[in-house]
Amino acid sequence: MYFEDPGRLAKTLVIELDGLVIGDLMLAVEDAWSQSEVAAQARGVQAELGWCLDPGYGGRGYATEGVRALMRICFEDLGLRRVTANTFADNEPSWRLMERVGMRRELHTVRESLHRSGEWLDGLGYALLADEWRQA
Ligand SMILES: CC(C)(COP(=O)(O)OP(=O)(O)OC[C@H]1O[C@@H](n2cnc3c(N)ncnc32)[C@H](O)[C@@H]1OP(=O)(O)O)[C@@H](O)C(=O)NCCC(=O)NCCS
Repeated sequence: MYFEDPGRLAKTLVIELDGLVIGDLMLAVEDAWSQSEVAAQARGVQAELGWCLDPGYGGRGYATEGVRALMRICFEDLGLRRVTANTFADNEPSWRLMERVGMRRELHTVRESLHRSGEWLDGLGYALLADEWRQA
């Protein structure tokens, strides 16, 4: 099963409310793009984030609270320099969440993301740097 895959579990945190799991978060540490001479300095310096909330608990700020906590882990505990997140352009609740937590829109890709319907959709990419997070 998807959630039993050890690779996936290693990147997963859960959002818990009164002992009940109401959502999950992804934290995937990755290398930044770099030129080969400096590749060692770019290793494991950033993370891609993701999230999913039980719709029954939507609209109350729980996902926002979870993602804020995730960003604190990235910047304070792990000392990362940048976080990123991607979404289909028409997934407004997700990109609104990215903007609510202070992320900056950096990319609008054109028909590069494949939806389970089989349709290729536009995507949006957001990011935030550690120094921007500290200033905010
Ligand atoms: C993306 C997703 C997590 C957003 O869910 P959400 O309910 O909008 O997010 P939150 O729990 O943070 O709630 C935020 C909403 O509650 C409102 N809210 C109420 N109290 C709040 C509080 N104390 N703090 C923050 N927001 C609050 C906000 O105004 C916002 O509503 P709005 O967008 O109408 O302004 C959810 O739609 C989801 O799981 N989608 C399916 C999976 C998915 O698409 N994942 C992303 C793939 S890239």
